[in-house]
Parts: sequence; C-alpha cells; structure tokens
Amino acid sequence: MIKNISVIGAGTMGNGIAHVFAQYGFKVNLIDVNPTQLQRAMATIGKNLDRQVAKGTLTEEQKKATLDNISILPDVSEGVKDADLVVEAATENIDLKLEIFRLMDLGAPPHCILATNTSSISITKIAAKTNRADKVVGMHFMNPVPVMKLVEVIDGYATSKEVTQTIVELSKQLGKIPCVVNDYPGFIANRILMPMINEAIYSLYEGVAGVEEIDTVMKLGMAHPMGPLQLADFIGLDVCLAILKVLHDGFGNPKYAPCPLLVNMVTAGKLGAKNGEGFYMYTPGSKELVVSSRFK
Ligand code: CAA
Repeated sequence: MIKNISVIGAGTMGNGIAHVFAQYGFKVNLIDVNPTQLQRAMATIGKNLDRQVAKGTLTEEQKKATLDNISILPDVSEGVKDADLVVEAATENIDLKLEIFRLMDLGAPPHCILATNTSSISITKIAAKTNRADKVVGMHFMNPVPVMKLVEVIDGYATSKEVTQTIVELSKQLGKIPCVVNDYPGFIANRILMPMINEAIYSLYEGVAGVEEIDTVMKLGMAHPMGPLQLADFIGLDVCLAILKVLHDGFGNPKYAPCPLLVNMVTAGKLGAKNGEGFYMYTPGSKELVVSSRFK
C-alpha cells in the first residue's frame, strides 16, 4: 500500500508530479539539492493550484491541503527513508540518475518501489545498478503534469508484474490513464514524437516551409494543440536532442539522426521556451507566439 511518496528533482516535471500526488492525498517529500529550486517549485505549485481554484475544479481548502501534503528537503537519503515509492525526476543525465538511484537504493526501505520519470534512458540499465531490479520501473508523466492524462508505465527487463500493476493502479488513482510499454529506446511516446519533431526541423532546414507554416499545418491539419516546432521549444531543444541521440544510438538506424539545425541551435544555447529563444521568442507573462528573427 503506497502512502508516502518522495519525488527527486524539483524542476518542471518534479514539481508537477509532486503537485498531482499531493492533490490526491499522498504525503510527498519533494527533494532537490538546490534550495532556490525548491522554493521556486513551491511557488509554481501554488500558482498552478490557483488556476484550478479559479476554474472551480479545486476549493481553497483543497489547495491548502495539497500544499500541506508537501514537505521540501535537500537530502536524498533523509528524504526517502520512509518512502513507499520514490519517483526520480532529475535532469536527463545517465550518470546523475545512476548516482541518485544508488542513494535511493541505499536509503529507501526494502519494500519501496523506485520509479524514474525518464523520457528515454533505459529502465533496465538503471535497475541493473540497484539491488532491487524487480522494484525499478518507469513512470513517465507528460508536461504539464497536472493537465496531461497519460502516464507511460515502462516495464524494465526485470520489473516484477506486481510492481507494474501497483504503478498502473496508482496512476488511475491520480485520474490518469496508464499505458504499459516495454523498455526499448524512447519507449512509445518519444519513439514516435521525436522523429516527428526532427522531421519538422528538417522541413525548416531544407526550406520546405517556414516556422509558422509547419506548425499551422500540424495544428490545423492534425488537430495537435501545438505545432511540432512550438512543442520542441516547450519540451526544450536540448532534451529533444538528447532523446534523438538515445534513439540513434539505441537502434543504430540513421533515420533517427538529429537534424544539423537542431544540433546548431543547442550548441548556440537556444534551448526553447526555458531560456527565451528557440524557433520562437518568449517574453515572460506574454502568451503571444513570435517567430525568432533567425527564421523570418
Ligand atoms: N497546471 C495546472 N493547469 C494548467 C497548467 C499547469 N501547469 N498548464 C496549463 N493548465 C491548464 C490551464 O489552466 C487551462 O485550463 P482550462 O482549459 O480548463 O481553462 C488549460 O490547462 C489550458 O491552458 P492554457 O489556456 O494556459 O493554454 P493552452 O490552451 O494553450 O494549453 C497546453 C496549454 C495544455 C500546454 C496545450 O498547449 C497542450 O496540450 N500542449 C501540448 C502538450 C504536450 O504535448 N505535452 C507533452 C510533451 S512531451 C512530454 O512531456 C514527454 C517527454 O518525454 C518529452
């Protein structure tokens, strides 16, 4: 029975995951080595809860109860010692994740399930570094976590059926729809999404159409809420590049090779919405979509 949950990493995904668990009554330890990031995460959760209150989907009391369910801590070992489930949502860096999993494995009680929100790193590889590979599983939320219904549940090579089932049931308790997939590069979400984004970037790079045309075709033609270039900016161009590299290395198939324009943009530090410029320019507080002058 899962009651206490620890979430490691207080970035965009971590704060969204903590928000949702706390909203559904779980006690959450939100852990990050960076105290500023923890404060920022609590402010973001408060702001997103305010949207729900304004919409009437949550009461002020429920907002307060949600915030009361979250404790913030800087230390992994301390933060996981009473956990029934830990969800790691740190940066997509394999060495960092392996170190965090080492600490989680040492510090968490033996019954505790160790999950990762990784978007593409092998669950089997992470599990192999722990002493409980049967209790390591992928729990991949989508951004923005409070809004998106999907949880991609990833079965590692050694994940037990009971653990997968526990995560499936837990996802349903959060009002989400879980889909169980096997552990191969990119799982399902990113195996299909990233080649689409890469193809959109190739279309721009080869001059087939401009940023707005590419995004409008996919928004209006395929009923996507965002076009692929805007979505790439929203996810982070560095994250897109990292996932494409996982697909390219994992399958050894040239069809996954990242577009040189994407590589150049990441090298130039144009990472998308999070640092103000990608295919579009971003001004805090403004929702207007302005194509970057580079692509006009
Ligand atoms: N918390 C709570 N509510 C939020 C929120 C948040 N962080 N962000 C948005 N919302 C709510 C808003 O309050 C609003 O609610 P109502 O419609 O009930 O009023 C609703 O979501 C829509 O938000 P906005 O009106 O602000 O903006 P929008 O209509 O442009 O929608 C969006 C924003 C939900 C992000 C929409 O554009 C969308 O669905 N985009 C695609 C998102 C997507 O594809 N995500 C997956 C990315 S891939 C990934 O995450 C995995 C990976 O591994 C890379």
